[in-house]
Amino acid sequence: MAKKIGILTSGGDSPGLNTAIRGVGKSALNYYGMQLIGFRDGFRGMMENRTMKMNAANLSDILTRGGTILGTSRDKPHRMPVDGKIVDMTDVIVGNYHDNGLDALVCLGGGGTQKNALRLKAKGLNILTLPKTIDNDVAQTDITFGFDTALGIATDAIDRLHSTAHSHHRIIVVEIMGHRAGWLALGAGIAGGADVILIPEIPYAVESVAEAIRERSRLGKSFSIVAMAEGVVSKQEHEALLAKQNDKAGKAKEKKKTDAENDTQSQYAEKTVRLAKQLELLTGLEARVTILGHLQRGGIPSAADRLLATRLGTACTELISRGEYGVMVAARGEGTRPVKLEDVAGKVKTVPLDHPWIQSARLIGTNMGD
Ligand code: F6P
Repeated sequence: MAKKIGILTSGGDSPGLNTAIRGVGKSALNYYGMQLIGFRDGFRGMMENRTMKMNAANLSDILTRGGTILGTSRDKPHRMPVDGKIVDMTDVIVGNYHDNGLDALVCLGGGGTQKNALRLKAKGLNILTLPKTIDNDVAQTDITFGFDTALGIATDAIDRLHSTAHSHHRIIVVEIMGHRAGWLALGAGIAGGADVILIPEIPYAVESVAEAIRERSRLGKSFSIVAMAEGVVSKQEHEALLAKQNDKAGKAKEKKKTDAENDTQSQYAEKTVRLAKQLELLTGLEARVTILGHLQRGGIPSAADRLLATRLGTACTELISRGEYGVMVAARGEGTRPVKLEDVAGKVKTVPLDHPWIQSARLIGTNMGD
């Protein structure tokens, strides 16, 4: 009997999602003779049983398209807003899996999706995930799809900011996505030649950043580019956070704050503007802020992301054909490897402090804020 699989995309969109859907879909239908249905808008659509037929026609012409043809949402099965209340809809989702006669469910998503998938695995579903996010912060995989495209966009932005910063003798603070990990800011900062790179893994001292900029001025460079990940914290904020985490009540409060990712965009922007103002005061140079925001997630996926998403998507159907479930299909070297969801869910791949990218940045004289 032909296997029937469901597919959904969950969490923030990223370039390469449609390529991955195509990779799963074409190999499932054409090579393995499986059936495929899509669920719209992530776990919300699966809860509401809003499906999309997946066939040769709608899998065609999506390779280069940004976003996701399935739609996405940040809804979690166990905490879904329904009629103004937060309700556990896990059993409804499990019911729809069985009612649709599925043999497996493929979830394309980032860190949150891995946790949701693990919960559904515990309910007996045959579930597989693919690692997607421009943040590149999913554990156990070399890389996530979406990252390479976003890296290109952010690097291009830094390149362009250079000429205007240079002409006006200004500091430009460019805020780059990445609330838990600094891969994108670090990668684009190095590739784009930022003078200062601030990432969440390294709490920064504003005086250190200001001194690096003043030193550049002394050497005749009266402009500077500061590439800053949205989740950076100053040394003082970091200490305050540590103190809170030592306090039990504070710990619970911090947890709640991380869950409410959607509310933090303006908080990030406030911090970025605050840093720019501090740098103006401390250096005497004019400062401007550029927030790249969702530009980094839009548009055509890079060739590297298309290759990666296709590689992961086809490896996923191969696993399904063998009856291997409960795993994330990770990128490892040139190939792929199934990793147990238990080893991925709830873990964040941050930038190790001894990572070669950090070492290279320091060796070329980039200020890392410490
Ligand atoms: O998780 C990916 C990401 O792009 C983060 O870098 C960013 O903080 C967040 O999504 C923004 O989420 P939203 O699109 O829901 O505002």
